[in-house]
Formats: sequence, C-alpha cells, structure tokens
Amino acid sequence: MPYLPLKKVAEPGTRSLATEWLESLRAALADPNADRATICRDTLTALTYPEYASNWETAVADATLPHATRLALASTDPRNVTLEPEYYGDCDDARFQRVKPLLWLWYSFDRTAAGGQNVWLGVELRRLLATHIFKRCGENFKAFQHVEFSFGYNMDVGDNVVVHRHVLLDDRGGIKLGNNVSISDYANIYSHTHSIVEQREVTNACTVLEDGVRITYHATVLAGVHVHEQGMVGAMAVATKDVRPYQVYVGIPAKSVRVKPNAPAPDNILKTARERGGMD
Ligand SMILES: CC(C)(COP(=O)(O)OP(=O)(O)OC[C@H]1O[C@@H](n2cnc3c(N)ncnc32)[C@H](O)[C@@H]1OP(=O)(O)O)[C@@H](O)C(=O)NCCC(=O)NCCS
Repeated sequence: MPYLPLKKVAEPGTRSLATEWLESLRAALADPNADRATICRDTLTALTYPEYASNWETAVADATLPHATRLALASTDPRNVTLEPEYYGDCDDARFQRVKPLLWLWYSFDRTAAGGQNVWLGVELRRLLATHIFKRCGENFKAFQHVEFSFGYNMDVGDNVVVHRHVLLDDRGGIKLGNNVSISDYANIYSHTHSIVEQREVTNACTVLEDGVRITYHATVLAGVHVHEQGMVGAMAVATKDVRPYQVYVGIPAKSVRVKPNAPAPDNILKTARERGGMD
C-alpha cells in the first residue's frame, strides 16, 4: 500500500483570531475556582447569538422575544439542560457537574459554524477541554467532531491518542487508553453493560486499550474488554473478549485472523502482556 502522509494546508485567515480566542478560554479555565457554567454560556452565546452576548439575562427574560429564541438562548447555559448521564444512578454528580459545562461546550461547538468540521480549531479546542474533563489527558490528544462521552471524568488517556468522527466513548466504568491509540470513525467503546434478565441491573467494567491499539471503523468494544498492545479490531467487528497483543481480530464476535508481521517473537509478546497483567 502507498504511504500517504498528511499534507500541509495553508493557514486559515482566522488563525490569529482563533488563537487569541483559545488563549482567553485557556486562561479562564486555568482558574480552579472559575465558574465553568458561565464560561460555557458566554462562549456559546458569543459564538451562536452574538447580538445577545452582552445582555443574555435580559434577553432570556424578555417576553417580547419568541419563546423559541429565548429557549435557544437559555440553552447555551448548561444549567438549563440535562445530559443523559445525569439520569444514571452511578453518576457521581459532584464530579459530573464539574465537567458538564465543558462537555456541553464541546458538543455544542461541534454544531456551530466556527466549529463543525473546522479541523484545526476543533482539535485545539477539544484538546484544551479534554485536559479539564478527563482524569488524565496525555500530550497531543486529537479528537475530531461529534465524539461523545458518558461521564468524561472517567477517561484516562495516554499520549498521541487520536479519536475520529462520531466515536462513542462510554466511560461509565472507566476507559483507559494507552499511548498512540487510534479509534476510527463511528467506533463504540463501552464500559457498562446490563443484565439480560433485569435491564436496570448495570455492571460497570473498565475497558482498556493498550499502547498502539487500533479500533477501526464502526467497530464495537464491549465493557471490560482488554485490547492488548498493538492489537487491532477490524471494521464492524464486535470485541466481546480480550484481544491478544499484535493480533488482528475481525467479525462478530471478533476472532483473530492474523498476527501482525511486526509482532515480536510470541514468547516476548506473552511475557510483556503478562507483566502488564490480565492475560492468561
Ligand atoms: C482489520 C483489517 C485491517 C484486516 O486487514 P488484513 O490484515 O489485510 O486482513 P485480510 O484482508 O487479509 O483478511 C483476513 C481475513 O479476514 C477477513 N476480514 C478482514 N477484515 C474483516 C472485517 N472487518 N470483518 C470480517 N472479516 C474480515 C477477510 O475476508 C479474510 O478472510 P478469508 O481469510 O476468509 O479470506 C481490515 O479488514 C479492516 O477492518 N480495515 C479497516 C480499515 C482500516 O484499516 N482502518 C484503520 C483506520 S485507522
């Protein structure tokens, strides 16, 4: 296969404007006592309803404005919306309320003209937000548009991780991503499951993708699965059990179809995996 590296793209004309905007947001979020809900509200209002940026409160209360306008404006404040995890019994509300404004900003930005499919700015903004949302966020985190989390605060992310479009990261029971992990478009990584008898019975189990793992397009990794170093889950596969290091798993349920040609000698792979824990 030909090697097709990413190419350089001309800088957008708004680059310096965007950089200043990001820096002001970075400075505001750096204060541990910052009112994150108000930061989110003001940022989204300025991006989406700039004519109300200086008088948000009076506009929301203004009975002469259409209901829908006031509702749309009110919804820029995360205190006026509910997110699905808030309905979960196992959601740690104190932790979630801390990250909720940043999740709301992340999701809503992706639906604006400034955000949407705007690659450079989107990656930079999400990288900034991730450092305040995740339990741990390594260097160079890169997320494309329409990524969703459950709690966000249960994400433990290594260096150089890439998450592509429309990925669901259900970190209810925790998701641990090693260095250089890549998750392709429309993949789903779960960390909770329901009893087949009593639907309300939920089991949380941390899902682990070790260093160099690739989860490819539309694949699903179920709760508690451990994908070992350099493991790969093929397009549309459902990984229901652990994935061995350097092996490529495909299908439903996912099974190994090959060992990657760059795999070290089998004894070494197993030894390393055992040392990391979790492989029989
Ligand atoms: C997982 C993948 C990389 C495997 O590629 P590969 O190592 O070249 O494997 P092969 O194409 O030789 O396939 C081996 C066998 O598995 C089957 N297979 C391959 N991918 C499959 C998939 N996603 N689902 C079901 N079966 C699959 C092949 O049909 C073949 O079966 P056969 O031996 O009966 O003919 C590839 O199929 C895939 O899913 N690619 C997704 C695209 C991608 O690379 N994404 C990365 C983006 S970061």
